[in-house]
Amino acid sequence: MQVAVIGLGKLGAPLAAVLASKGNEVLGIDVNPEAVRLLDEGRAPVEEPGLQELVSGAQERLSATTDLAAAAESDVSILLVPTPSDERGAFSNEHVLAAVEELGAGLRVQDRYHVVVVASTVMPGSCEGEIRPALESASGRRVGETLGLCYSPEFIALGSVIRDMLEPDMVLIGESDSRAGDVHEQLYKGVCENDPPFRRMSLVNAELTKIAVNTYVTMKISYANTLADMCERLPGADVEVVTGALGLDTRIGGKYLRGALSYGGPCFPRDNKAFGVLARDIGTEPLLAEATDAVNVAQTDRLARVVQTRLEAGNSVGILGLSYKPDTAVIEESPGLALARLLANAGHEVHVYDPVATEAGVKALGGLVQGASSAAELLEKSDVAVIATPWPEFADLPAGRNGKRTVVIDCWRLLPEDAGDGAVEIVRLGRPLEEATPV
Ligand SMILES: NC(=O)c1ccc[n+]([C@@H]2O[C@H](COP(=O)([O-])OP(=O)(O)OC[C@H]3O[C@@H](n4cnc5c(N)ncnc54)[C@H](O)[C@@H]3O)[C@@H](O)[C@H]2O)c1
Repeated sequence: MQVAVIGLGKLGAPLAAVLASKGNEVLGIDVNPEAVRLLDEGRAPVEEPGLQELVSGAQERLSATTDLAAAAESDVSILLVPTPSDERGAFSNEHVLAAVEELGAGLRVQDRYHVVVVASTVMPGSCEGEIRPALESASGRRVGETLGLCYSPEFIALGSVIRDMLEPDMVLIGESDSRAGDVHEQLYKGVCENDPPFRRMSLVNAELTKIAVNTYVTMKISYANTLADMCERLPGADVEVVTGALGLDTRIGGKYLRGALSYGGPCFPRDNKAFGVLARDIGTEPLLAEATDAVNVAQTDRLARVVQTRLEAGNSVGILGLSYKPDTAVIEESPGLALARLLANAGHEVHVYDPVATEAGVKALGGLVQGASSAAELLEKSDVAVIATPWPEFADLPAGRNGKRTVVIDCWRLLPEDAGDGAVEIVRLGRPLEEATPV
């Protein structure tokens, strides 16, 4: 198929490469000329594991342009432009509508059947309410005739975007009509390598399902974090043991039930807030979504309290991990960043290290903290160090630090039980805090 991917960011660039790798002719489109230039030259415009290899391997079926109207020459256009949160926490459709306007102008001078797929996260009701009228008005066509409209979001995690696109748990398709849904299903059947279930439904049901999935997952995370907090205060308790058994119940499931730090990144926090805003707007009390958010926000204070009980006057703190999860450089709403800011603002000397995000973190914190060039250097400089992101390399902390005693707060219980070299005291979150293991 001929496919245009509009928006070559963290999701759009991998999607363009995945579609091309499966034999489709793909035109990548972005308003940012740099992203277009890179993709056109066969270079990945964003960092994502496996992306460069995929782009290089599919180069002859991948081209790029800044001309949005050119999308109309393909069979399907997939929109992956930003939908930033407004001041209330609802997603704004401004970039989607701007793209639809230009795409519509291209469709106006074409007569082949075309399907527009919105894959950006939007407020439920957007496709029927704003996007369909804008598309019809810009293109001079009617949806359901020579034009189809779908809503089909990706369920991915940064760092595993390509695998998640190739092996999704399901493909969710909201459709204006069955012809449009058939085209999109055919495209995705040729992409997925794991024969996933396809769920086809109305546009609004798909829009609601998308944010309902993320809101449910965030609820699980906040639940597990509440259990971790309880285990830290309950003699003999261990959150790992409790959630390990809890997750075996098939009604619950073990994923995202770790009991550690807050959720962050570009999706979970804002999807949860948007769910709450929608619920309120239509007269439903969003008690669960709001409690999930409140528990999440409280995690930084929970962690800061643990850190502060270990600090003595003049001590310095080190934060290991600034990205919101391993395998990504994204620091948006990350627990490590939030903790660093809070402690620095409280007057502590704070050092930070992340395998890929130290520089971005120091910049985002406006010089409040000092960047270290390695985990070893950070430990040298810190009296208390916190493993805030479970990067695998932090499981193997270097031994021997100038004879200085360091307290390591292991938020993810990453360090082996026998870790330590005589100079390190390990405090594992999710276990009674007074039982910290001196080694
Ligand atoms: N990043 C994630 O983990 C993730 C996960 C699920 C859903 N989403 C959703 O996917 C959408 C895209 O997210 P992202 O993380 O890829 O965003 P991004 O900011 O990384 O990339 C968006 C790209 O769109 C381009 N763009 C902006 N306006 C445009 C326009 N009018 N025409 C063409 N290009 C335009 C930008 O230049 C940028 O390259 C958002 O709605 C987001 O909520 C993101």
